[in-house]
Amino acid sequence: MYSLLQKALFQLPAETSHHVALAGLDIAHRFGLSKLMTSNVKAAPIELLGMQFGNPIGLAAGLDKNGDYIDGLAALGFGSIEIGTVTPRAQPGNPKPRLFRIPEKQVIVNRMGFNNKGVDYLVERVKASNYQGVLGINIGKNVDTVVENATNDYLSCMRAVYPYASYITVNLSSPNTPGLRNLQHGETFRLLLEALKNEQLKLKIKHGKTVPLMIKIAPDLDAEEVKSIANVLVEYQVEAVIATNTTLSRDAVQGLEHADEAGGLSGAPLLKASTEVVRTIRSTVGDQLKIIGVGGIFDAEGAAEKRRAGADLLQIYSGFIYKGPQLIRDAAEGFGRG
Ligand SMILES: Cc1cc2nc3c(=O)[nH]c(=O)nc-3n(C[C@H](O)[C@H](O)[C@H](O)COP(=O)(O)O)c2cc1C
Repeated sequence: MYSLLQKALFQLPAETSHHVALAGLDIAHRFGLSKLMTSNVKAAPIELLGMQFGNPIGLAAGLDKNGDYIDGLAALGFGSIEIGTVTPRAQPGNPKPRLFRIPEKQVIVNRMGFNNKGVDYLVERVKASNYQGVLGINIGKNVDTVVENATNDYLSCMRAVYPYASYITVNLSSPNTPGLRNLQHGETFRLLLEALKNEQLKLKIKHGKTVPLMIKIAPDLDAEEVKSIANVLVEYQVEAVIATNTTLSRDAVQGLEHADEAGGLSGAPLLKASTEVVRTIRSTVGDQLKIIGVGGIFDAEGAAEKRRAGADLLQIYSGFIYKGPQLIRDAAEGFGRG
């Protein structure tokens, strides 16, 4: 059924089909029909950092930027849902077109640029949802906030979402916000982590619960950079890392239509590089850091590979667009034997 639906949706421009699909899912959910599309995942729930994940396969950030579709997406069978990236203030993102598919290689290229309605809107959407499962909220900085003031944007988002999030993801790796990826390095990185962990402690006291922090990193780092980031995360007692975001590399799509569009590339060709990042982190820090593996999972074997590399849990985005909800079940099965 999904392949028919996908054929129709893929006739539309990529961003239009994205909106049509989510709006359709929302309507189906309101009429009690979204269960018909569920992937009937067989995997058992997993406990991690005090959270009970319904199964090992979560939805990665960026599909539901504002938290508008939480209940419909959850009904498809995801073990967790991550919404955002959200910024303190609403912003339009980059001019359209800004989302492209390269179906020959099962790839998406995007330069959305954190289009979102702002953190207050997202919090209202979370409050309005009925979802009881693990909800990650992914936070970022506004494009017009200078990088030197990025910490303030992260802290204000953190304060706003803390009472409503199961975990908070700090996005330092979108290639579409100038300067953002520089926050992953050196003294800037340490100062940011220190500020985030101090705020977490204050919010823990205020709200009487610990909400784990996860740092989302890029795949375009060499092994030494990955090791250094992993060690610093352990030093600051960050609970988890999400590896990885999209890549700037175009090696896999040379010569194909849309290959030269600016932005981050996701999908099948990202599997190897993002899994290597997972492997490097695991071999560097052992079990001192939880790892969520994301990037290029399109089947059970891809999920198994990431599990073998050391991921505690997985997320999917592009594979879900190309393969539909069935991938949740397949990936969970692969994770189980990985
Ligand atoms: C259209 C699109 C928008 C995205 N937006 C975000 C975002 O807002 N925040 C974020 O952390 N990651 C974002 N991502 C990255 C995904 O969460 C994921 O890390 C990446 O696509 C690799 O996984 P995949 O190969 O399964 O898609 C986006 C990806 C796509 C394709």
